[in-house]
Amino acid sequence: MTDGRRLAYLEALGVDVYVRRGVAPAPATEAELDAPARAARPAGPLPPPVVAAAVPEATLDWEPLRAMVSACTRCPLHATRTQTVFGVGNPHAKWMFIGEAPGADEDRQGEPFVGRAGQLLTSMLKAMGFAREDVYIANVLKCRPPGNRDPKPEEAAQCRGYLERQIELVAPTLIVAVGRIAAQNLLATDTALARLRGKAHALGARGWPLVVTYHPAYLLRSPGEKRKAWQDLLFARQVFARLEAGEQVLP
Ligand code: URA
Repeated sequence: MTDGRRLAYLEALGVDVYVRRGVAPAPATEAELDAPARAARPAGPLPPPVVAAAVPEATLDWEPLRAMVSACTRCPLHATRTQTVFGVGNPHAKWMFIGEAPGADEDRQGEPFVGRAGQLLTSMLKAMGFAREDVYIANVLKCRPPGNRDPKPEEAAQCRGYLERQIELVAPTLIVAVGRIAAQNLLATDTALARLRGKAHALGARGWPLVVTYHPAYLLRSPGEKRKAWQDLLFARQVFARLEAGEQVLP
């Protein structure tokens, strides 16, 4: 990318030009039941397995996972969605950006971050030297909450396995949580975004490295905060470089 184009993206981001460039277990089989358990079980054949739990998303590859998500009825949001919004980008990206939930535009188009806020996220990515295709973009929720309300904890819980599998499949070097809701949800905390910024966090049992930044919808409402978002992205780049160099960045 030319410096001029990057400058234009930085300006869209509101950055002044003097900024330095620089898995559910299968039911036990008869053989697996130990003697006391077998004795406790009523006589007769084993009950049939619960089919829904027989195909945990944690075992799926991309296409079956996508199909499972598009047929999902785990929470009431399935009744009001136009379609699910799975995720987009490079399935082997080193960078993964995770937002909150689809809005009206995303629900219509089936792709995350394509509305006004999405366009600003795209500019933020471009300012970092990325095209959308270079990274992987997903949301905590795969369905739009009506009226763009915040995701309910039970909705996020039902969707969590899908996102965890997406993270496992991408296996990114660094995850960027986009916005307070995504950050708090992913990190299972109610700590304010301001206190989560500027630190490398470990996500989940696998400890995926994660940093946080502001949501572009917030930046559209509060353009004065764009500078801080750019600082977050510069911090993310530093963390990424250290991770790629094999350094220990997590607490
Ligand atoms: N906001 C989000 O968090 N995700 C989207 O996909 C769109 C807007």
